[in-house]
Amino acid sequence: MHFIPLTSETDFESWRKAARALALNDVTPADVTWTVAGNEPELFEPSTPAPLLETPRRTFNVSAKFVELAQTAILHRNSTRFAILYRLLWRLRSNHDLLDVAIDPDVSQVAAMAKAVRRDEHKMHAFVRFREVGCERESHFIAWFEPEHHIVELAAPFFARRFADMAWSILTPDICAHWNGHAVSFTPGVNKSHAPSQDRLEETWRRYYASIFNPARLKVKAMQAEMPKKYWRNLPEASLIKPLIAGAGRATGDMIANAATEPHKSQKRPPMPRKHLAPGDDVDALREEAKGCRACHLWKDATQTVFGEGPQHASVMLVGEQPGDKEDLAGKPFVGPAGQMLDRALREAGVNREKVYVTNAVKHFKFVPRGKIRLHQKPNTLEIKACRQWYERERASVKPELVVAMGATAAQSVFGKITPINKSRGRLIELEDGTKALVTVHPSYLLRLPDEAAKAREYERFVDDLKIVAAQIKKAARAA
Ligand code: URA
Repeated sequence: MHFIPLTSETDFESWRKAARALALNDVTPADVTWTVAGNEPELFEPSTPAPLLETPRRTFNVSAKFVELAQTAILHRNSTRFAILYRLLWRLRSNHDLLDVAIDPDVSQVAAMAKAVRRDEHKMHAFVRFREVGCERESHFIAWFEPEHHIVELAAPFFARRFADMAWSILTPDICAHWNGHAVSFTPGVNKSHAPSQDRLEETWRRYYASIFNPARLKVKAMQAEMPKKYWRNLPEASLIKPLIAGAGRATGDMIANAATEPHKSQKRPPMPRKHLAPGDDVDALREEAKGCRACHLWKDATQTVFGEGPQHASVMLVGEQPGDKEDLAGKPFVGPAGQMLDRALREAGVNREKVYVTNAVKHFKFVPRGKIRLHQKPNTLEIKACRQWYERERASVKPELVVAMGATAAQSVFGKITPINKSRGRLIELEDGTKALVTVHPSYLLRLPDEAAKAREYERFVDDLKIVAAQIKKAARAA
C-alpha cells in the first residue's frame, strides 16, 4: 500500500506529482491511500514506510482538459476525490478518449464534482457581504462565508480585483483570505464569532434592497434557485425577503393603480424648431461632447456620462444631484427609485415630465462597491465644480425660465455656492441673469425618511413645491 499525504485539502501540485509517479510505476489505484496532513485517520497511519517510488524514466502526457478538470474537482469536499481522480488518470493511460465518454461513472462523477465547485465559487462571488470595522482610513471590511467546497483560494482573486482599494478579509471555517491592497494571504479558518454581525451601512443596505425589489417580477422558485436558503443566514437583506414576498401582491396592485398615465394626445408638443442656436450649442451636441468628459475622476468607475434630457426649449429645468446605480446603467437621469418618486410627485402636482428638462449637477455616478451593490456617495465640492460647466452650458442652451434645484448638491451648482435648503425652500429666487430658481428637497430624501408620518408630510411639501413648476409651465404656455 502506498500512503500519500498531501499538505492541504487543495494541494493539487502534490497530488499531480504523486499521481504521475504512481502511474509511471504501475501502482494500481487500489494500492494507494490518499490523505491530507493533519487529517490522517489512525486506521491508515502507515506502520511501515511506503515503498519508495522510483523516479520514472518513462513519461506520459495527459490532456490540458484533464488537468483543468482535476484542478477544479480536487476542490470538492468529497473525501474520496483524490482516489477518484487517480483512478481516472490511471484509466486515461490506456484510453485517451475516456473524457469524451460522459456516461462513464468516473468521468461523470469528476465532471459533477467540478461543476459543483464552480457553482460554489459563483455563489461565493455573489453572496459575500462585507461589513465595515473601524472607519475612514482605518476601515477594514470583513465578511463571513460558509463555502460548500474548498473554494476560498480559488475565489479570492476575484475579490482582490473587484475590491482592490479596500482592505478586506473573508473569514470561513476552513481558511480565511485577506487583502491588504497589494497581495492576498491566507490564514487558518475561524468560527463565525470572529466576524462582525452588522455595521453602519446595514440599514442603507436593507433599504437599497427593498427599493430594487420589483414585486411585479417576483418568481419565488427562481429566486430561491439563485439564492438558496442556506445562504440567507449571512445576508443582511435576507430578513426582508419574507415580508417583501408577503407584500408583493399588494405592492403590485399599488403599482398598477399608480401607473403613469399617457399624456393626452393634444398635449404632445411637436418637436421644437432649433432657432438661433449656433451649431454645437444644442443639448444633443452637448450630450455628445460630455460623453468624453474627464474633468474629474468620476468617469473612471462610472459606466457612462448621464446627461440631461428633455425638450430643447423647456421652460423648466429640474436639477438633481448625480445619477444613481440605475441611471448609470441606463444612461438616463431619474429612472431609478428616486426617479419613480419624482414622477409620482410631478404627476400629483400636475406636471408632465415630458415638458421639463431633467438633469443633474454631477453627470457621473459616484459610488463605493459593497458586494454586488454600488453604494451611492455624495459628490464633493471639487466634483460639483468640475461638472458645473455642463449645467451652465445646458442652461445657456435650454434657456429655461425656472430652474428647480432638488437637494443641496443641486443648489450648490445652481447658485454657485453652498446654499442651505431650508432657508431658501419653496420661494422663487432670481438668479443673476433674471432666470428664476426654486429650491426644494431631493426625492431620495423622501425615500430615506424612516417615519411614515414624516414621509407623508414631506411628500406633500414636495408636491406643493412642484405645483410652482406646474404654474410656471402654464404661464409659459399662455405666453407662447
Ligand atoms: N438621484 C439624482 O439626483 N439623479 C438621478 O438621476 C437619480 C437619482
